[in-house]
Amino acid sequence: MTMTLKRAAQLVPSILSADLGDIGGGLTAMKEAGVTWVSVDVMDGHFVPNLSFGPDFVRLAKREGFFVDAHLMVSNPDTAFPWFVDAKADIVTVHQEACTDVSRTLAAIRKAGAKCGLAIKPKTPVEKLLAHAAEIDMALVMTVEPGFGGQKFMADMMPKVEALRRERDAKGLEFWIQVDGGINRDTIAAAYKSGADSLVAGNAVFGAPNPVDAARELIGKIG
Ligand code: DX5
Repeated sequence: MTMTLKRAAQLVPSILSADLGDIGGGLTAMKEAGVTWVSVDVMDGHFVPNLSFGPDFVRLAKREGFFVDAHLMVSNPDTAFPWFVDAKADIVTVHQEACTDVSRTLAAIRKAGAKCGLAIKPKTPVEKLLAHAAEIDMALVMTVEPGFGGQKFMADMMPKVEALRRERDAKGLEFWIQVDGGINRDTIAAAYKSGADSLVAGNAVFGAPNPVDAARELIGKIG
């Protein structure tokens, strides 16, 4: 059965790139731009060479009324995910590369009360994600090497996005297809055209002179 999912694509600002001295102001700006979903990049300094946010940043975004995905770039996803479910993250995304038993972890996230996402790094083949297509609420294709914002978009990741969309349509599934890394005014259309319907952007939004205008411009390119 082939069913092309009809759903509005979402711009998902990453607070990793927000002014950490005024995250509240950054979130307010995103509300003004019409953003309803933000991403919290969680980094443990081990799975990726950077250290970032804990569950309290999910609590902050939830308090402001956002839909929140927590992207766990951590080596111990089974230990860490309950902290983010407790913080009421709507989607908790784990990395396939960090899981000892992917299906078990995905099922445990759902059982704990959140939707589950599965992410792959650039070097990981899309087959590692396709194998779990029926178990996920979101597939995340990293379009940079995870760890830092402001890197260059890897256009050669788009065949992975296309493969995920084909699988979703062929099987009548409804998982989100998210891309993360280097999404900006020059790259967002290619990612959207390939089939991404959740597009994470950090520096292109919060690094812009006017984040509200920057977010609105990107939203205008995915509808
Ligand atoms: C990488 C991070 C970044 C961030 C987005 O680990 O996940 O991709 O969210 O950063 P930009 O949009 O600046 O590449």
